[in-house]
Amino acid sequence: MYLTREEEGVLSGDRGPAAAKLMELLVALGEVFGAERLVPVESAHISGVSYKNLGEAGLEWLEEQAETGARAIIPATLNPAGMDLERWAEMGVPEEFADGQMRIIGAFVRMGIEPTCTCTPYLVGHVPKLGAQVAWAESSAVCFANSVLGARTNRESGPTTLASAVTGRAAIYGYRLDENRRPGVVVEVEAELSDAMDYSALGYWTGRRLGTTVPYFRGLGQPDLESMKALGAACATSGGIALWHGEGVTPEAGEMEGYLEGLERMTFTRADLEGVAAQFTKPLENPIYCLGCPHAGLQELEEIAGLVEGREMGGRLWVFTSRGVYEEAEKAGYIRAIEEAGGRVYRDTCMVVAPLKEMGWTEVATNSFKAGHYMSGMGMETRMGTIRELLAEARG
Ligand code: F3S
Repeated sequence: MYLTREEEGVLSGDRGPAAAKLMELLVALGEVFGAERLVPVESAHISGVSYKNLGEAGLEWLEEQAETGARAIIPATLNPAGMDLERWAEMGVPEEFADGQMRIIGAFVRMGIEPTCTCTPYLVGHVPKLGAQVAWAESSAVCFANSVLGARTNRESGPTTLASAVTGRAAIYGYRLDENRRPGVVVEVEAELSDAMDYSALGYWTGRRLGTTVPYFRGLGQPDLESMKALGAACATSGGIALWHGEGVTPEAGEMEGYLEGLERMTFTRADLEGVAAQFTKPLENPIYCLGCPHAGLQELEEIAGLVEGREMGGRLWVFTSRGVYEEAEKAGYIRAIEEAGGRVYRDTCMVVAPLKEMGWTEVATNSFKAGHYMSGMGMETRMGTIRELLAEARG
């Protein structure tokens, strides 16, 4: 693999032992994937933040990186942690877990990484431009960056995004190259999609069928931001989709028209939509109602606030969002409306990366197929519904 003189220097220790090791990781990865060279990346979004997933071994590795001088040289943000960094005790997070989590955040901060703790960095000012090479982890964020923003990233991991943050480089292969961004299947959407949960169901159905193949959707209508993030999160979860194109919706779709001829066609019908939802309709006895996967945007918080205002949610509604969006929602009065109704709006974390089971919850109701998929994989009873349906039920 070709390396510039500067990259060779980093590899041989010019920027210290941590940068050398991390550069070694990127070069090894590039060699595995047949990359010819490295490419400068403009920003990184780093996953692997929750103490629940990292444990002691992961925590020690991060502290070692910080102690041996790893420092970000490009803007870098963080994925959700395992708890609200301020209200963790109120959530019921055990103290030992909180200690480990705070040490992880401390290590990232020492490395110069912004502790945004969100899977929607694009809602808090981290918005790569069309065609920008970036290094992002977190499958839903990757799907959004590639598809909706038209930036270029592979589905990176925690260590490789940290390596990119510290070196400013990534190996050039996969979705960084034009030829790998072309669609492999055309999905004709016949079902009428009316809210973010319908788009989430379409994503879940598509990922199941396509694995990692890039879909080209026709008939998506005019999805709003919440619907596009829900679609990407679900198709990245049930398959491994990192990029989708939507006719008249996503920035690269027009360029892809010349590659559609001869591709396999699939149709998503009303029956398919109902079939996906039916997988998660089990009635639950005492669930926690979790919304905000991916992290709720302002519009979603406004909707929730409007639906719960003046009602009593019985302390079983948790909504997850980022600090940036929380601040805006606070100014608009949405947070107060939700909390006065007995709901809680937590930042920095989500239902999947927080230790919900250890906190005594066994049943979850959610509007996200990504969250539903993971929660049932963790052995929790899971039920899906639209925000309106779930809030009506929680009131009862
Ligand atoms: Fe984000 Fe957690 Fe869902 S990281 S995409 S809210 S599983």
